[in-house]
Amino acid sequence: MDNRVEFVEIEQPCDMHVHLREGELLRSVVRDSARSFDTILVMPNTRRPILTGKDAEDYRLEITQWTPGLNVVSAIYLTPETTPDLIEAAAKTGVKAVKFYPRGATTNSGHGVRLETLGDPWSALEPVFDTMAQLDLILCLHAEDPDVPLLERETRALKTVTALATRHPRLRIVIEHATTRAAIEVVHGWSNIWTTITAHHLVLTTNDVVGNHHHLCMPVAKSEDDRRALLDASMSGHPRILFGSDSAPHLNATKNRAQGAPFGIYSAPVALPLLVGVFAAYGRTDHLQQFVSDAARELYDIERRPRGTTARRVVYKPWTVPNDQDPHWFWADRRLDYALA
Ligand code: NCD
Ligand code: ZN
Repeated sequence: MDNRVEFVEIEQPCDMHVHLREGELLRSVVRDSARSFDTILVMPNTRRPILTGKDAEDYRLEITQWTPGLNVVSAIYLTPETTPDLIEAAAKTGVKAVKFYPRGATTNSGHGVRLETLGDPWSALEPVFDTMAQLDLILCLHAEDPDVPLLERETRALKTVTALATRHPRLRIVIEHATTRAAIEVVHGWSNIWTTITAHHLVLTTNDVVGNHHHLCMPVAKSEDDRRALLDASMSGHPRILFGSDSAPHLNATKNRAQGAPFGIYSAPVALPLLVGVFAAYGRTDHLQQFVSDAARELYDIERRPRGTTARRVVYKPWTVPNDQDPHWFWADRRLDYALA
């Protein structure tokens, strides 16, 4: 490989969008995140959803009993029952983000808000958004309109997202797991909009999804032009573009169902080595620190731990990703040039 680097060291790597589930499944996957990342933002769409500050704190304890050093940033799930008082109470317990799922858009989004009940731009939620802006809570958006065809869902939602950002200039909004050039353009155009980008969307297009359900997630990977835009964005050093793996494990017994297989890609074991490989191929490993750590530390005001104590090292060491895991690992049977040291 032309641009091979022998190793990369990232100080305090952050994965700002990860699904860890609960119980047995959590126990089996959480160390994969802790191996690569110092800090994670854990998503609240567990089977018993994380709705309050108390839920978030209990969940954080459930996670850290297996991974004591892991710095867990908490989010609660925005439902039709979420009130400004609930938001205020959650902020007091240390919750930093509120996750918005349009009902029906993805796995475990059944508690989410129905878009058609919200008015434009989601004005029924105005009091909640005002409180969040006052308290500096971040709005994490699953920015898809589930009522339109699959490949148009993200671009269709962007109009509402920008209207919301204009109406609430103090509210910090994150478009989660951006998949389109249009979403990246929105981030460039609005100073209160951020985005997370996954590792898998840097390497997949729609063509790779058809015929391989292990590549199926929401939002679905888009065109080659969209992928290029995501690559440029992640390697640009832009302060509002950050890494979020959207690692979303499903046990093989459910994921492999012929019908009704759940959406989600389990990427935690390979995400960091994959990212290093992608950045190295373009000679841009110097921008990994910004994408995988600094942008997140700034947005979420993450405590900077002493230099050197939180770093992860990724080394040049080709390996083949195993295909016999449960949950199935992303990139199985493919070669990665880099590995965690
Ligand atoms: C996620 C999951 O499985 O919880 N699935 C996915 O396809 N990405 C939910 C989500 O982030 O959309
Ligand atoms: Zn997700």
